[in-house]
Amino acid sequence: MSNITFTMIKPDAVANGHTGKIIDHVINAGYKIKAMKYLWLTKEQAGQFYAVHIERPFYNDLVSFMSSGPIVAAVLEKANAVADFRIVIGATDPQKADAGTIRQLYAKSIDANAVHGSDSDENAAIESSFFFNSFERF
Ligand code: CMP
Repeated sequence: MSNITFTMIKPDAVANGHTGKIIDHVINAGYKIKAMKYLWLTKEQAGQFYAVHIERPFYNDLVSFMSSGPIVAAVLEKANAVADFRIVIGATDPQKADAGTIRQLYAKSIDANAVHGSDSDENAAIESSFFFNSFERF
C-alpha cells in the first residue's frame, strides 16, 4: 500500500472560489501536501490525462470541461492515502456523495464534480508523474 494519492481541484471549484476551502478540508483530513501546482490544461493535456476513459461516452465532455479553466493539481501524503481520500471526496456523482464530503459540499454535477482523486496506488503514481517530476524529494 502506498501513502501517496493525486488530486485535482477541477475548473468548477476553482471558478466558484472553493480552492481555499477544499485545500483546508484536505489538510484537516490529515493529508500533507507534497507538491501543488495551479495551471490551465490544454485540451490535448486533459485528453492525455483521461486517456483511460477514451471509450466512455462522457470522454469528450470531460476533456472539454477539464480544459475550460484553471485547476489545482496536488500530490498528497497520508497512510492509506488512496482509499481514505475517496472517502474524503465522496461519490463521483455529488447527488450520491455522503454529507460532509468535498463533492457533497462543493460539487454540482457528475461532470463538474469539484475534485479528482486517484482510484489506485498505481494510478496515483502515474497521475502524480503526469504533473510533477520529482515530488518524491519533498
Ligand atoms: P474523475 O474522478 O475525475 O474521473 C473521471 C471523471 O469523468 C469523473 O471524475 C467525472 O467527473 C466524469 N464523469 C462524467 N460522467 C461520468 C460517469 N457516467 N461515470 C463516471 N465518471 C463520469
